[in-house]
Amino acid sequence: MKKNPPLLTIAIDGNSSCGKSTFAKRIARMLKYSYVDTGAMYRAVTLYFINAGLFRDTEEPEPELVESLLNHIMIELRFNEDTEQTETFLNGKNVEKEIRSMAVSNRVSYISAIPAVRRKMVELQRKMGENKGVVMDGRDIGTVVFPDAEVKIYLTASPEVRAMRRYRELQEKGIEAGLEAVRDNLMTRDHIDSTREESPLRQADDAILLDNSDMTVHEQMEWFGQIYERTLKKIQDED
Ligand code: DC
Repeated sequence: MKKNPPLLTIAIDGNSSCGKSTFAKRIARMLKYSYVDTGAMYRAVTLYFINAGLFRDTEEPEPELVESLLNHIMIELRFNEDTEQTETFLNGKNVEKEIRSMAVSNRVSYISAIPAVRRKMVELQRKMGENKGVVMDGRDIGTVVFPDAEVKIYLTASPEVRAMRRYRELQEKGIEAGLEAVRDNLMTRDHIDSTREESPLRQADDAILLDNSDMTVHEQMEWFGQIYERTLKKIQDED
């Protein structure tokens, strides 16, 4: 009888809007793995602080104040069997649509640069992936959350392609935003995410770089198929 292949941890990191979630979801569906969108988790935390009024008088609330309120936040990712999509819940409420708004996009890089926020999210993400068989996308998955992941992919695409993708995605979801504003937001977030002190966005030394600017999702999946087979073979050879 043929043995089931071993369950892997697949880490996908990269800039904002380079197609990480589309790619990660497809891989998860193909391998019957779970999918964890870590950006959604940072977005939900940010939404909590917006709703709590922390951004009313300032663009940069005190990190100590943010840290003191973290215990009030419960984040869950639940798989919706009907839509076959993972949805984000903040303190029991479905916030999947709200967390994609520009109000959240414009503030999430500030909140996600706060060390206490990252510690809490990383702990939760490690728990979510402890049984392997997971595809996780974000900025620090291959470098910090799962440095031992068997597959690490660092995804990138040109700024023009990324801005257009995010703009279309927002339009499809019925969220108002101009192309220029979307592009500016991406550039600003790239800068903050890759220059922050705590776990900045960077390619792990052992991550494979993929520029998908001119690739269809189908082509990316073909590329991934080869990486997956190669990884399984390597694990087999090491056994
Ligand atoms: O993937 P996204 O664009 O939805 O992520 C939103 C923000 O969350 C992103 O600008 C930076 C932050 N983030 C992070 O700091 N670490 C992660 N692992 C994922 C996202």
